[in-house]
Amino acid sequence: MDLIIKNISNLLTCRWDNKTPKCGNDQSDISLIENGYVYIQGDTIIFAGDDPEFNSFIKSFPAGDRFEIDALGKTVVPGFIDSHTHFVFSGSRRNEYEMRTAGESYESIANAGGGILNTVTAVRESDEDKLFYISENRLRNFVRYGTTTIEAKSGYGLDTENELKLLRVINKLAKSNKFELDIIPTFLGAHDVPPGIDKNEYIKILTNEMIPTVTIGKLAEFIDVFCEKGYFDKNETIEILSYGVSHGLVPKLHTDQFNSIGGIEAAIKTRAISVDHLEALNSDDVIKLSEYNSKENYMIATLLPGVSYFLDISYPPAKELIERNVPVALATDFNPGSCNTENLQIIMSLASAKMKMKTDEILNAVTYNAACAINRQHKLGSLSEGKQADLIIFDCEDYRDILYHFGVNMISHVIKKGKVIHEY
Ligand code: NIG
Ligand code: FE
Repeated sequence: MDLIIKNISNLLTCRWDNKTPKCGNDQSDISLIENGYVYIQGDTIIFAGDDPEFNSFIKSFPAGDRFEIDALGKTVVPGFIDSHTHFVFSGSRRNEYEMRTAGESYESIANAGGGILNTVTAVRESDEDKLFYISENRLRNFVRYGTTTIEAKSGYGLDTENELKLLRVINKLAKSNKFELDIIPTFLGAHDVPPGIDKNEYIKILTNEMIPTVTIGKLAEFIDVFCEKGYFDKNETIEILSYGVSHGLVPKLHTDQFNSIGGIEAAIKTRAISVDHLEALNSDDVIKLSEYNSKENYMIATLLPGVSYFLDISYPPAKELIERNVPVALATDFNPGSCNTENLQIIMSLASAKMKMKTDEILNAVTYNAACAINRQHKLGSLSEGKQADLIIFDCEDYRDILYHFGVNMISHVIKKGKVIHEY
C-alpha cells in the first residue's frame, strides 16, 4: 500500500546534490516547505514537495491502495542518522560513572585498567547470541528518538577472535533487525592495546591478521583508530589506516578528544571520510581541515557533544568549523564509557545550547551531512524522489520547536523504509 503524508505544516527535505556535504552557509540549507506532501511507494519516496506541485503530481498518478497520515500542525524531517556509535557491547560501567561524579577522571580510570578494557572483558565473556540480543534491544531506544540509520564500531574485542565476533554480530544486525534499521559496520580493532601484549606486536596482528580477515569476509566498510596519548600516535594511526585503505576500507578517526597529537594530519594523509570528537581541536588544525575541504575533497567533522557533557570536558569548536567551511555532523557516540545515551535529540540540544549551532545547521548535521559521513548521501539523509523513505513526524507545527522545546520527545511517528516502526 502507498503512503501519503499530507498537509505537513513544516516539511524539511534537506535535499542537496547527493555528492558533496553542506558546509559554511549551506550547512543551514534545509529546504523548508510549508504545507508539504510526501508520497511513498514501497520503501521509496516518489514525491516530496508543496501543495500545488502535489496536486499536479497526483493527477497524473494512477490511483491505487493508499494509506494517509494527516500531518496538519506537524513537522516532517528526514530520519536521523547516528554516524558514530559503539552500540554492540555487553556489561555496564555504571560504577565508573559514579567514580567520575565523585571526582575521578576518564583518563585516570583507564590508566588504572578500567575504561575500554573493562568492556573488553565483558565482551570476551559474551557469546554472539547474547551480544545480538542485548544490542538489538538497544535499537528500540535509538528509534524512539528518531534514529533510522546507525553506524556501529567493533573495538571491544581487541583480539582477532573477539573483534571478528563483534563484527559478525554487527553484520547480522545489519542483515536483519526488528526495526529494519540500516546499520553500517566499522572496524575499530585499534581502539586500545589489549593487556599482556606489546603495542608493536598488536599492530602487527591488526595489519597482518585482522584487517585481511575483516576485508575478505566483507565484515566492515570503514576502519577507525583511537588516535590519542596512551593509545595510538600519529604514525601508528597512519600505518594502520593506510593498511586498511590498501584493503579497501575507508578511514575514519577518533581524534583530538583529550589531546591534539597530530590526528588531523593523519586523517588528511589517509584521506579519511570523517574526523570524530575534536573536543581538543586547535585553530591550526581547523585551518588544515578547512584547506582540505576546499580542494574537491571532503572530510566531515563529526562532533559528539554528549561526550563533553558526560565527561565534563570542553565542547568542540562547531562555530569555527562551520565558519571555515568544514562540514559538520553530530552523533551520539553511544558507548558504555564516555557517552551512555542513544538519544540523538539530547545531542542536538547540546549542540544548540552549548555549541551555539543554529537550528538549521543542527538538522543538517544529523541528516544529510551525517549521511555523507557514512557515504550514503545518494540514498539517505534527505527527502526527495528516489530516496529511501526514512522520516520522522514531530508533533509541532514549527520545526524550530525541535530545539526550542527541549527535553521532551515530540515524535509522533518514525517511518523506516516506508513502514511506521514507532508511533506514539
Ligand atoms: O568514542 N574515545 C574512545 N572511544 C570511545 C569511548 C569508549 C569507551 O569508553 O568505552 C569514545 O569516546
Ligand atoms: Fe567513539
